[in-house]
Amino acid sequence: MKENEFISNKKYNLIDNGNVSSECPSNIALIKYWGKFEKQIPANASLSYTLSNSFTRTKIDFELKNTFSVSVFLDGVENIKFAEKIEKYFISIEKYVPFILKYSYKIYTKNSFPHSSGIASSASGFGALAICLMKMDELFSQTDDFQTEKTSFLARLGSGSASRSLYKGLVVWGENNSIENSSDLYATLFPFEIEDKIKSFCDSILLVHEGEKKVSSTVGHNLMNNHPFAKQRFLQADENIKKIIPIIKEGNLMEFGNIIESEALTLHAMMMTSSPYFILMQPQTVSVIQKIWEFRNDTKLPIFFTLDAGANVHILYPKSIEELAKNFINKELLVFSQNKKVIHDFVQF
Ligand code: PMV
Repeated sequence: MKENEFISNKKYNLIDNGNVSSECPSNIALIKYWGKFEKQIPANASLSYTLSNSFTRTKIDFELKNTFSVSVFLDGVENIKFAEKIEKYFISIEKYVPFILKYSYKIYTKNSFPHSSGIASSASGFGALAICLMKMDELFSQTDDFQTEKTSFLARLGSGSASRSLYKGLVVWGENNSIENSSDLYATLFPFEIEDKIKSFCDSILLVHEGEKKVSSTVGHNLMNNHPFAKQRFLQADENIKKIIPIIKEGNLMEFGNIIESEALTLHAMMMTSSPYFILMQPQTVSVIQKIWEFRNDTKLPIFFTLDAGANVHILYPKSIEELAKNFINKELLVFSQNKKVIHDFVQF
């Protein structure tokens, strides 16, 4: 679909007040999106697993008013910063949901996971918000043509990675010539055969460092503008998408893990070589990576890591080794987490 196909020309029958609610999971990228152009267009395609236990639940109370306004309550506590962000977001998407500025909103939102835990709350948060907006669209237009593409398109305009959270399993966002129908505007399901082991992955998130991230993803994406290695990196990510397709089909876990780990380290390498430069890992992050490598070398078990733009470690392994992996995490890795915290999640298809 093209951008102008998302512009709404429906007839709306506005109601005075009401509410809608939704739930949306977070996701973890295997092939990373890092760098974007105007209007939230990704510099390369990305691939992610949608999580299950880590989600955002959002309820929106809306009231027809002369003045548009937004209040946000996160876990029951009013959050002015989020309200400002969402207000701007609503203004930016008026073309696609033309009733949006006619209402005053109270948004109640809750995450199933702790704040600053290395789980992207912007992905699940904007995903949940976009579902709510599509529900309002259906309600006012008295249609039931809920489109996941449009929901993903709206979520993307809030946070790029949120576009991927609207689908379960393995999800692609960004145009890539090995994947027919892939789009920069919205995410789509990974369209090829997926071997069973790849379908059964667990993600245990070790909280090495809790608290605000050192560098927001907005700042991070911007650092890829004029980055000396950006062009090469964007090509590499697109190449990795191409490479991983047969690996996923065949279920070659060692090669799968190899690409995932290299992607995580490359993301961090981009941050270390940008101007200004940052180290987003903590010493414990490196220790955990080394422990995972040692354990994998000794046991030959398929256990891998990925990182987002922070210090926490996502430990990825197939369900068939869940018990062994959890024992290893508890015995050898938990000591590296700030408060002995690990969040166990998994992918559903
Ligand atoms: O969606 P954003 O702007 O928060 O960017 C997400 C960036 C990473 O999480 C580091 C990678 C990704 O593809 O999710």
